[in-house]
Amino acid sequence: MVRVPENSSHQAHASSASDPEALRAIAEQLAAEAAELVRQRRAEVIEGQARDGAVSTKSTATDPVTIVDQESEELIRTRLATLRPGDSILGEEGGGAASTTGIRWVIDPIDGTVNFLYGIDAYAVSIAAQLDGTSIAGAVADVPGRRIYSAARGHGAWQHGPGGKPERLRCTTETNLGHALVATGFGYDPARRAEQGSIVAHLLPEVRDIRRIGSAAIDLCLLAAGRVDAYYEHGLHPWDWAAASLIAEEAGAVLVTPPADSSGSDGIVTIGAAPGVAEAFQGLLGEAGALRAL
Ligand code: IPD
Ligand code: CA
Repeated sequence: MVRVPENSSHQAHASSASDPEALRAIAEQLAAEAAELVRQRRAEVIEGQARDGAVSTKSTATDPVTIVDQESEELIRTRLATLRPGDSILGEEGGGAASTTGIRWVIDPIDGTVNFLYGIDAYAVSIAAQLDGTSIAGAVADVPGRRIYSAARGHGAWQHGPGGKPERLRCTTETNLGHALVATGFGYDPARRAEQGSIVAHLLPEVRDIRRIGSAAIDLCLLAAGRVDAYYEHGLHPWDWAAASLIAEEAGAVLVTPPADSSGSDGIVTIGAAPGVAEAFQGLLGEAGALRAL
């Protein structure tokens, strides 16, 4: 992983304001730092004695947020204010820049908060840099897996395991949709969930199997790593997909993402698939009535 020195902000900003590789290095560094905080604070807050008042809910009673989500986002925002003082920021917990002009950092401080709460090992920190609404760099830290996925537009997608050499990511060469392992997810709104349930029932007999892992960012990184063949979900927020969709695309996947200024409430579908099944997968989603917003 590339280390970003504390005092490098001025040089980095002046020489590489929108250089994808420089932005990727920052995203990786900050995702790693936030992942470390999430690991430590989970032990203290969720497993330890400090749980009282640490968990509340957001959009619905099943949509949790914890003080660790807030602390992780705060750490990333503070570091960006030093390293990239002129850029705008949109974060899941703190909100922010609706405008997609210029460089905008898009942060999910914990993607997979339900897994984080229950101790299921699939949650991540996701950080993307977008230029005029297009993701050009991003990193997703798989917190329990101590693994970082990252990409810079035009420079490929990579995985850094604990202590190992970076490995280039490639999605699968699967060509038979009937053999495709498909990941998906469900939003927190019960009415949307009912429709998502009908769609998944249509897909299930037509593919190898379905996975509901519980983190959209990890789903898309698994697509990049060739560990699932396709992914779709309605109603993602920009912070769910901004980094990981670029990682999947740079690994060869075919992506359909919502407009950068859409919000989860628009119910637009995000689709990613290995190239050999992408057309058939979109056809199947069309038959299932899944190409519309829910
Ligand atoms: C959620 C996860 C989940 C997906 C939901 C997201 P959160 O994000 O990515 O897999 O199905 O749509 O909202 O709430 O854990 O940050
Ligand atoms: Ca999320």
